Amino acid sequence: MAARYAKLDSSKHDADSDAISLTQIATTAKNVRFRNEPAADYDDPEPDYDSDGAGNHRYNGARPKHGVAVLPALPGSAAGNLRQTARSADTEHDLSAMENLNEVSILHVLKERFKHDVIQTYIGDVLIVVNPYKKLDFYGDRYHEMYKFVNKRTDLEPHIYWTVDHAYRQMTDTTKNQVILISGESGAGKTESTKLVVKHLTHICQSTMSNLHDRIVKVNPLLEAFGNAQTVMNQNSSRFGKFVELNFNASGHMKGACIHDYLLEKSRVVHIGPHERNFHVFYYMFAGMPAETLRYYYLEDPMAHRILKSDHNQKRMFYDESDRKLCKQKFEEMEEIMGKVAFTKDDISTIYMCLAAVLYITNVEFQPEDDNDGVTIVDDFPVNYVSDLLTIDVDKLKTSLMCRTSVINEEDVIALKTMEQANDERDAVAKALYSRLFGWIVRQVNSKLVDSSSASATTSNSIGILDLSGFENFVDNSFEQLCINVANEKLQYFFNTFIFATEQAIYAEEGIDWSHIEFQNNEDILRLFLGDDDTAPSGSKRSFRRLPNMFTILDDESKSPQTTDSSLVRNWSNNLSDAQNFKSVSGDELAFVITHFADEVTYSANNFLEKNRDRLGANLVSLLQKSENDFIKDLFSAELADTGVLSRTKSKIRKSTGCGLGMKSRKSGRGSVTGETVRKLKTRGKHQMPGTSLHKVQTTASQYFKKSLEELMRKMRTADPLFVRCIKPNLDQERDMWSDKLVQRQLQYSGVLQIAKIARLGYPVRMSFCVFYKRFAMIFQERVPMPSGDACRKALKAAGISDEKFAIGKTKVFMKEDLADHLRLATLGRASVCLQRAIRGHVARRVYQAKKEEEARKRREVEERKRQELKARQQRELEQSQRALEREKARKDAELAASGSEETKPRGQDETPPTEHSVSLARQTS
Ligand SMILES: Nc1ncnc2c1ncn2[C@@H]1O[C@H](COP(=O)(O)OP(=O)(O)OP(=O)(O)O)[C@@H](O)[C@H]1O
Ligand SMILES: [Mg+2]
Repeated sequence: MAARYAKLDSSKHDADSDAISLTQIATTAKNVRFRNEPAADYDDPEPDYDSDGAGNHRYNGARPKHGVAVLPALPGSAAGNLRQTARSADTEHDLSAMENLNEVSILHVLKERFKHDVIQTYIGDVLIVVNPYKKLDFYGDRYHEMYKFVNKRTDLEPHIYWTVDHAYRQMTDTTKNQVILISGESGAGKTESTKLVVKHLTHICQSTMSNLHDRIVKVNPLLEAFGNAQTVMNQNSSRFGKFVELNFNASGHMKGACIHDYLLEKSRVVHIGPHERNFHVFYYMFAGMPAETLRYYYLEDPMAHRILKSDHNQKRMFYDESDRKLCKQKFEEMEEIMGKVAFTKDDISTIYMCLAAVLYITNVEFQPEDDNDGVTIVDDFPVNYVSDLLTIDVDKLKTSLMCRTSVINEEDVIALKTMEQANDERDAVAKALYSRLFGWIVRQVNSKLVDSSSASATTSNSIGILDLSGFENFVDNSFEQLCINVANEKLQYFFNTFIFATEQAIYAEEGIDWSHIEFQNNEDILRLFLGDDDTAPSGSKRSFRRLPNMFTILDDESKSPQTTDSSLVRNWSNNLSDAQNFKSVSGDELAFVITHFADEVTYSANNFLEKNRDRLGANLVSLLQKSENDFIKDLFSAELADTGVLSRTKSKIRKSTGCGLGMKSRKSGRGSVTGETVRKLKTRGKHQMPGTSLHKVQTTASQYFKKSLEELMRKMRTADPLFVRCIKPNLDQERDMWSDKLVQRQLQYSGVLQIAKIARLGYPVRMSFCVFYKRFAMIFQERVPMPSGDACRKALKAAGISDEKFAIGKTKVFMKEDLADHLRLATLGRASVCLQRAIRGHVARRVYQAKKEEEARKRREVEERKRQELKARQQRELEQSQRALEREKARKDAELAASGSEETKPRGQDETPPTEHSVSLARQTS
């Protein structure tokens, strides 16, 4: 297959810049094309939908009426529909082929296709997938075969398998890395699409290791169990970002995979919002583990654990029996994968031990001490369990939970914790334990996805698949949502830049000047958050690093112990008053509003500083590092990678040595140790906590976040991108429901309409010279056998069209939308005059004909009447004659009778002799 992208010289990239070099892409990408096929005719204005008045429509099941077959006959209704809706196959399958690409037309086409279960549509090479919320049967083996070595995108129906096949061919043809960016808001279908991408890739290529494909596909449910949770937006929402990198050798054989995890939403471990759940694995454990196994980990009643209860779920952990059964099934699946893919029995036991420790440490409650500012532990038993599960000294654990070490004049000072500090640090341990455990699981999984025999081979390429948490706008938005939304802004920026550059390339190819087209990207908002110069055009002298920005201010505020969340918002408001996208909320010093590319989001700054500091109490860390269990020891000693994850740590993590649990101390009630410890510490003293690097500057969450973004952008810059935009059709997660408003909003911010917008800025309507001539022949003065650019220009000029309304390329006429409309109307006007003339002639002819026919009819009637009268007269005369004849005959008979009796009787006097006329008539009659 001919390479559509020429090789990019990655060495020319500016390492500090995330922006794609426009010139580079302009010369290489030919992604989005606007073709010259006729516009789709839109009929059937939603006859099959119920509307609930709020813009939601439910499809009632009447099936399509269109019937241009594109695919061979396939089994299954959805496949059939996929085929049947190919009514205007050349246009609707590729929105960019539509002459008029705008919000309304895109929305209409997508809705029509969705109605018929056709959920995939192209806009150029960009694939739009609308979440069907139901199982459709066009992802099976037959389709894997069909979308293998596809010659031309338009040969087959739009399909995510084409995107995959294309990426693979591109990689093997150009030896350039490929990246498939799957985006969309929460619940739009990114993770499902990612799985389909991986599944198809494992079908179209071979691997160097026998069960590699199988493993790559299988690890997903395991990662989802630990990294996904139910939210109000999605029952299986990914609470971490994922970049799946599939590596290939020079022959195109898959030789391994690596899952890069980003930004696990660890705050979910200690706090869940209304109608939400914690990470799946907790529920799976309680549903699937036999009672005695649960007891082994000191677990019994799920509702005894604070972090599994939400405001709306205080009494029951499972919604109903089927929910419990599903969780049990998932548990069995998870255990099977853990056993088969990556873990030993001891590993698995260690994982459960850590989870139980998370459940118990978050159960530790504090109460204020009577005679000082400190706190004591309400009940010792959760602490005892934690100490057992993590094999750490119980007394030291209690002390560390109640006291903290701070640095004063470069000396470590142990002080009593306030209630807030005690609660925060307890939660911090739970968050750290869970996120480090998650990182370790990802690390273990990755170690099993590499063919060690070929890993060292030098030549290799990769296909990356990005599945980041989508844009979020909840009722309550916090630090995590801010990070997720900023990451989405960044992706949006990348997408816009790429598409703009691609358009630019099309203009360059046709030799048309592009310089007058100015395009607004979302750089203002990125500058507001990150302030870096990665949004500056290449070569720009502007540097935004020095400007105040939200993350720098957040980091500065996080350094000082005196600052609060409200001082942070005040600082933002004072320093960012010029930024149009930032608004503080009057009357609420903890809220602020950001106008994102996608939507306006109100954030609560509550806990922002604490979340950003993301600090674990030094004495707690020190204690965990001294666990008798090597695994726990290493888990808390390991240095996190630059992006804040443990999965890529260079530190060694040993196997667990503490799986044989046994309660060392089961004290309950308020522990005497506790009270005593507090008393001992009443007067502040200097205590060095050995083994803890207290003076080390801690990395904040926002710093890790920025590093993660930089790493992702680096990966994308050095690869050819392909885009999949997932769209959510309704907020109820329901099948066959469509909300115009919701889809329109997503189209706007997902950049699909951006393509239309960019097109509109330039010359959105493009037609080859031939099509132009055929369509608008009436503006041509003479017949042209082979229309050329010059002929088209001459015709347009002769029609009085000004230069700025059109441009003539090498093969096409480029027009402003209004010019195209004008020509269309003019053609219609001309046609209507002709039509009127023809109709008038036709009508006049019909009238004249009718008149003539009427006259003839009347004439015929008169003649007929005359004929009838004549006939009647003749009849009357005939009858008279007959009567005369009869009389004559009677007379003659009488005469004869009389003459026969003459001899006896003379002829009667009353008999009239027959006249000559009557005799002749009688003769005629006889
Ligand atoms: N192609 C598809 N076919 C059938 N169902 C789908 C498809 N894509 C998504 N779904 C349904 O939608 C649900 C949500 O999809 P998914 O988890 O992929 O969303 P997401 O975009 O990854 O959301 P989040 O950002 O919250 O992780 C899935 O659990 C599944 O039920
Ligand atoms: Mg997901």
